[in-house]
Amino acid sequence: MKYAFAKRVRHLQSSAVRDILKVVGQGDVISFAGGLPDDELFPMKGIEDAFARVFATGKGSALQYAETEGYRPLREEIIKRMNEKKGIMNYSSDEVLVTTGSQQAIDLFSRIMLGPEDYVLTEDPTYLAALQVFHSYEANVLAVDSDDDGMFPDDLEQKMKQYKPKAVYVVPTFSNPAGRVWSLERRKALIQLAHKYNVVIFEDDPYGELQFLDNEQYTPLAALDDGTHVLYTSTFSKIAVPALRTGWVMGPYQIIRMMSQAKQANDLHTNSLSQQALYQLCTNFNLDGHIEQLISVYRSRMEVMVDCLQKADLPELSFVKPRGGMFLWVELSERLNTTILLNEAVRNGVAYVPGEPFYAGLAKKNTMRLNFTHATPERIEKGINLLVEVLSKKVEHQEHFFV
Ligand SMILES: Cc1ncc(COP(=O)(O)O)c(C=O)c1O
Repeated sequence: MKYAFAKRVRHLQSSAVRDILKVVGQGDVISFAGGLPDDELFPMKGIEDAFARVFATGKGSALQYAETEGYRPLREEIIKRMNEKKGIMNYSSDEVLVTTGSQQAIDLFSRIMLGPEDYVLTEDPTYLAALQVFHSYEANVLAVDSDDDGMFPDDLEQKMKQYKPKAVYVVPTFSNPAGRVWSLERRKALIQLAHKYNVVIFEDDPYGELQFLDNEQYTPLAALDDGTHVLYTSTFSKIAVPALRTGWVMGPYQIIRMMSQAKQANDLHTNSLSQQALYQLCTNFNLDGHIEQLISVYRSRMEVMVDCLQKADLPELSFVKPRGGMFLWVELSERLNTTILLNEAVRNGVAYVPGEPFYAGLAKKNTMRLNFTHATPERIEKGINLLVEVLSKKVEHQEHFFV
């Protein structure tokens, strides 16, 4: 039978890249493709103890239906943590919604804000799964010109004036995929323009705590704003574990309230057991110590990857050394197409994600995203050498360059 799917799902179709990457997990390919934290570093004992505590202290409430807004003690803990670690002071626990991962926060926001007539502005490149959400609500996504410091205020203002967007979606600290960190000036400029043109900023910050340089400070937009124009989301996926599927979103009460109503229709509430276990993890486990350990391991893996790429000394290969997060973004000779190259790389035993699908505007096809947090240093070294082998062959046989 031919199923008559809604028009809006046309963006959900599988891609050739996804099909190649699906087989990567099955063979002995070294994959830099996934956005995975290292499962060897998961705080297994802490999580086991947290669940034991939930069962020891609760009266079955962790197994019951619960408030859509989220487990109140966890919301209060999140507020405290955001005050202390991020300087976000504008919100109370009524202005926080616990979500099923920060991915759901992007979806709920889009559900209440975006339709076929609406515009959303993004960086370029930007988080692929956010683009998918915006498209699934048939919104018009427009890329704002940007460099390593963030969006260019001139282009941002011109697009705000011309398109009257509902929202600007940004990952200003250790972005996925580019590992970018916005400068303070660009952050302030974005907030100022959002106020001037009455646009909501959606700040997605899953990686902010994975900061490699101690002496730098990257103030979230939500801490720079007065509490009216920024919606901020983050997650336990990168600092604890992704499997508990718990994130949060905080911002102006009216938006949070509307998102909470949308969440009711979507999944009633986030898993109560996960929320209560995470509350126990936050209060009875040294989460900050754990994050420090993650930072130290991830930083050293990033250094290994950077060293290997530098040693390879490939002409026209460039990247900015990541200051945090989980990704290294590589740009190659303009004549190379990383989507076409992927097949060959996988056959040679290494995988990456081609840059093309991360673009909302005109894609740079000579880019790729490499994850440095999942593979061991030995496998990073081996994998980069395999990748360099494939790339060097192309450099040697210039006639095989792709246009
Ligand atoms: C930029 C960005 N936002 C949101 C998410 C979703 O994370 P989660 O739903 O696990 O909280 C991710 C996951 O990789 C991400 O990279």
